Amino acid sequence: MSVQKEIKRITTHNLQAMKTQGEKISMLTAYDYSMARILDESGIDILLVGDSASNVMAGHETTLPITLNEMIYHAASVVRAVKRALVVVDLPFGSYQGSSRVALESTIRIMKESGAHAVKLEGGAEVADSVKRILSAGVPVMGHLGLTPQSIYKFGTYTVRAKEEAEAEKLFEDAHLLQELGCFAIVLEKIPATLTKRVSESLVIPTIGIGGGRDADGQVLVTHDMLGITKEFQPRFLRRYLNLFDTIKEAAEEYIKDVKSRDFPSEKEQY
Ligand code: KIV
Repeated sequence: MSVQKEIKRITTHNLQAMKTQGEKISMLTAYDYSMARILDESGIDILLVGDSASNVMAGHETTLPITLNEMIYHAASVVRAVKRALVVVDLPFGSYQGSSRVALESTIRIMKESGAHAVKLEGGAEVADSVKRILSAGVPVMGHLGLTPQSIYKFGTYTVRAKEEAEAEKLFEDAHLLQELGCFAIVLEKIPATLTKRVSESLVIPTIGIGGGRDADGQVLVTHDMLGITKEFQPRFLRRYLNLFDTIKEAAEEYIKDVKSRDFPSEKEQY
């Protein structure tokens, strides 16, 4: 008999129970096997294969260029590493806005080709048909309201959303619509903390905040930002836990020095 401890996978039901029991939910982004393995072993609840891969992995200015095929590649790499976390994949720009049929086809490709557990899409009433259709195929859906980066050219800036009453009311209604449709959680990005509190307290399903203050039911950060791999991006909501940009650069500089000076490889480092 195996004495290895069985690792229990996080499900959407566990997340709901966490909200009910007042336990905060932790979520980080992951785009590749090696990082996903470390983050999964850390005990993170959700790994988001975010379309922020477009920025941090591919160097694009916005999230718009990343393709469905590229998202599937990232998602499959993450899934291969993960034993415990729930893996959620962003539907990229253009893969769900056209029609609910397109949304379902994109979702089916993600689920079949990557082995992920759920999808996330941006928007409220505008994407209701797509949310409904994806859910009817048995795929869990996470919503995303507030600052929705795929609409950056409509907003014009990455500043705080829903400060005005009309936009705040629309967000509140959209959150309730997404819950009624059957979403298992909603990301609230860059909105006033008071609105996060109001929305989170009024919903049964959990909210996950990024720049939404303390009262969301969970928090998400882009891993490359919180590890300090990205350098220029410094919004107020970001807490940096490491400065890996400089750490990695220093290690590379030392390696270059060792190669140039013939210090590396030593006799012990050869066959
Ligand atoms: O793509 C992403 O990383 C996201 C998070 C910011 C929530 O959507």
